[in-house]
Amino acid sequence: MAEIQTGTKMQQEGSKPKSELGGIVVLDFGGQYTQLIARRIREQRVFSAIVPCTASVKEILQFEPAGIVLSGGPSSVYDSDAPKCDPSVLATGIPVLGICYGHQLLAMHLGAEVKPGEREFGLSRLSITEGDSLFRDTPAIQKVWMSHSDSVESLPANLLPLATTERCGVAAFADLDRKLFGVQFHPEVSHSEHGLAILRNFGIGVCGIRPDVSATTRLSLLEEEIREKVADKSVFFLVSGGVDSSVAFALCARALPAGRMLGLYVDTGLMREGETEELRQSFRRLGLHEQLRVRDESARFLGALEGVVDPEKKRQIIGRSFVEVQAEAMREYGIDEAKWLLGQGTIYPDTIESGGGAGRAAVIKTHHNRCAEVVALLEKGQVIEPLAEFYKDEVREIGREIGLDAALTNRWPFPGPGLAIRILCNKAKDARAARPVRLATDFAEYRAVRLPLKSVGVQGDGRTYREVVALDGPLEYSTLHKISSDLCNLRTSVNRVIVRIAGDWELAEARVYPSGLTRERVATLRKADWIARSIMHDAGMTDSVWQFPVILIPVGHKVGDSVVLRPVNSVDGMTANSARLPFEVLDSMAEKIVDLPGVEAVFLDCTDKPPATIEWE
Ligand code: XMP
Repeated sequence: MAEIQTGTKMQQEGSKPKSELGGIVVLDFGGQYTQLIARRIREQRVFSAIVPCTASVKEILQFEPAGIVLSGGPSSVYDSDAPKCDPSVLATGIPVLGICYGHQLLAMHLGAEVKPGEREFGLSRLSITEGDSLFRDTPAIQKVWMSHSDSVESLPANLLPLATTERCGVAAFADLDRKLFGVQFHPEVSHSEHGLAILRNFGIGVCGIRPDVSATTRLSLLEEEIREKVADKSVFFLVSGGVDSSVAFALCARALPAGRMLGLYVDTGLMREGETEELRQSFRRLGLHEQLRVRDESARFLGALEGVVDPEKKRQIIGRSFVEVQAEAMREYGIDEAKWLLGQGTIYPDTIESGGGAGRAAVIKTHHNRCAEVVALLEKGQVIEPLAEFYKDEVREIGREIGLDAALTNRWPFPGPGLAIRILCNKAKDARAARPVRLATDFAEYRAVRLPLKSVGVQGDGRTYREVVALDGPLEYSTLHKISSDLCNLRTSVNRVIVRIAGDWELAEARVYPSGLTRERVATLRKADWIARSIMHDAGMTDSVWQFPVILIPVGHKVGDSVVLRPVNSVDGMTANSARLPFEVLDSMAEKIVDLPGVEAVFLDCTDKPPATIEWE
């Protein structure tokens, strides 16, 4: 029997699978956005269940679905071990929508050819050629978000092409008689402008589903769920001061009596300037400060990370260190593990990017709350994560519903592993030189070098760890965006592009220097981050971006470091675009940061997600 996810009690209650209304089953092929597809469907008050792609037709039909969605995934349909679904799904007569990998699988099944094709990551312009079915009431040209390396090459005569992009001839197709549809782009991500309308056209227009208007309030259901899970135990919570763990803690505090909750904040030495004090204040405002303990564990974390370069190793070490601290603290506070659960503020992207979900998703990065030790505790049922099914924007909404102040709910996300994953290290004994990159003649005003320095990306639902191209030239956002997407689409060795905004040495002389995670480098990054945050705050621009990581990279021309500014806009962190800040704001940050001792240049990251992730590691 395949493992089936129907969402939390809250999500199910919000739209029950009433057979007279109909619902949608999503077959999961390991896509990064599978849960997001189900969420978008549920947002329209339509029942949705996720099942693994290996589910039998009988298992699928038990939901009496009016529609079936085939998700994206990291594989290639022509691989020998490519995941497939039961082919009789298409014989049920139920309408099907294939998305990305699902689009390619459906097309191949219907006789089309799928090949490694023009790669497309991030924004594309979709031109609609048939606008009466899937694209009804949406514009003829619209922005969509792509993440694929393979493409449908050509369609057999019985399939109707619906849309194209510059690089993708078959961006959408249909068999209108059998109500089978495929889209190469991701309608479920917020960056696809009319994605929701497209999913609505499929669910309500094609499948004839009627939305369920009898939703129950989610807070009381969430609290009930917490009480059920905790039963007669208590909860020991790891809090970071960020939105997710604060909202999760406050929710548990509403659901449980005060004596059955204890929070622990671990100062890892990798926090930003003022973080610990801000946390104390926000817990005081919530009236939860008596339930909070603080421990300084900076020596443990920095010691364990000494000499570590690989981002995944860093993440594993940090996750493990958190679990060690938690176990030691519980012993010290006389807490009996048999009577307590570990509470975490995990949200859905943490799980899916760590390779979780219904089973086939690729590991993009192991979030600290998904290291092996935490997974072992989860398997033993010793962890409670009340927000594990939600995305950041939903968590913020829940925070507002329980009365947390905007200063907390609107905070920029800050990753659990802290500054450790924003300080890039390099183990090589000697400095390594950058190599020149030739750009297309349209971009003659720019010079470019490829840095022998890798960062993490997400391309075609899989993880990449590739080099960075650094540019020198005018800060013209549209041109920079074009260069960035051309380089990442055309070169398989690059997933990120940055442009220099301070430092006036020859970029061709750039070197990547040997460097580790030292207290000095943490201090430098903390100062640079503080400058960026203060300037955004003073300009009244904090809320104009979704998140603003500041990164330290061992790049310079005289054994120094450089700082990269990474302001992004996003809704849920699953896709993002590099934010276009006013030049004077960037200038004043760059001027102050480049004056910090040891900093030789300041860059701006102009890459979207995909192809790059928001964080660098
Ligand atoms: P990426 O870098 O994958 O990040 O585009 C998406 C969002 O998740 C945050 N992030 C983390 N948050 N623990 C967390 O609590 C982690 O290990 C972690 N890694 C990334 C990131 O800051 C962004 O908001």
